[in-house]
Amino acid sequence: MVNELKPPVTVALTGASGAQYGLRLIECLVAAEHEVWVMISKAAHLVIETETPVSLPARPERLVAALTDMSGARAGQIRCFAREDWMAPVASGSGAPASMVICPCSTGTLSAVATGASNNLIERAADVALKERRQLIMVPRETPFSAIHLEHMLSLTRMGAVILPAAPGFYHQPSCLNDLIDFIVARILNQLGIEHRLMPRWGETPLGD
Ligand SMILES: Cc1cc2nc3c(=O)[nH]c(=O)nc-3n(C[C@H](O)[C@H](O)[C@H](O)COP(=O)(O)O)c2cc1C
Repeated sequence: MVNELKPPVTVALTGASGAQYGLRLIECLVAAEHEVWVMISKAAHLVIETETPVSLPARPERLVAALTDMSGARAGQIRCFAREDWMAPVASGSGAPASMVICPCSTGTLSAVATGASNNLIERAADVALKERRQLIMVPRETPFSAIHLEHMLSLTRMGAVILPAAPGFYHQPSCLNDLIDFIVARILNQLGIEHRLMPRWGETPLGD
C-alpha cells in the first residue's frame, strides 16, 4: 500500500543567488514524503539558469513535470502556481499550508513582504502566512546588508518570521559544494520539524560513526 503524503509545505524560490538551496530543499521535502507547493519568481528562473545546469519551464503544468522528474516525486506530490494565480490556495488563509519557506529570498522579496506589498503570489502567500501567524522561514542572501535589508529583517522577525540567512558554517568540514548546501537545508528542515540525515546535530556523533 502506498503511504499517504504528509501535509504540504510551500516553497518559493526568488531571485537571490543560491538557487541550489531551494532545489535541494524541494528534493528533501519530497524524500520526506511531504506534498510540496512551489512558486518560482521570474528572476529566480534566471538565477537557476545562471547557477545550475537546469533550465525550468515557467508554465505551472510543465514546471510540475520538470520538478517531479528532477526530485523523484510521486504523481501529485508537487503542485506549482503561477505568478498571478490569485485563486491558488496559498493566496488565502483558508487554503495555505502551515509552513512556507522562501529560499533563496531576494532583498526585493524581503522588502515586499516586510511592507505587505503582495504584488505577486509569492508575496501574497508570505503575507497570508504572517497574518495567519503561520510559519514563515526566509533565507536571504546578500552581502553586505544595507540598513534597509537589516531593518526589514528585524521587522519580519518581530512579525514572527524566521530569518535564516544562507550563511553555511564550516565546522562540519565540508568537502564539496553539496555539504555547504545541505548545511542550510538541514537548518530549514530543523525549523520545519522534519527528520533528516543530512548532517549530524550539534553534539551528535558524525553520521556513519
Ligand atoms: C544571477 C543573479 C544573481 C542575483 N543575486 C542576488 C542576490 O544574491 N541577492 C539579491 O537580493 N538579489 C539578487 N539578484 C537580483 C534579484 O534577482 C532582483 O532584485 C529581482 O528583482 C528579485 O526579484 P524577485 O524577488 O521577484 O525574485 C540577482 C539577480 C541575478 C540575475
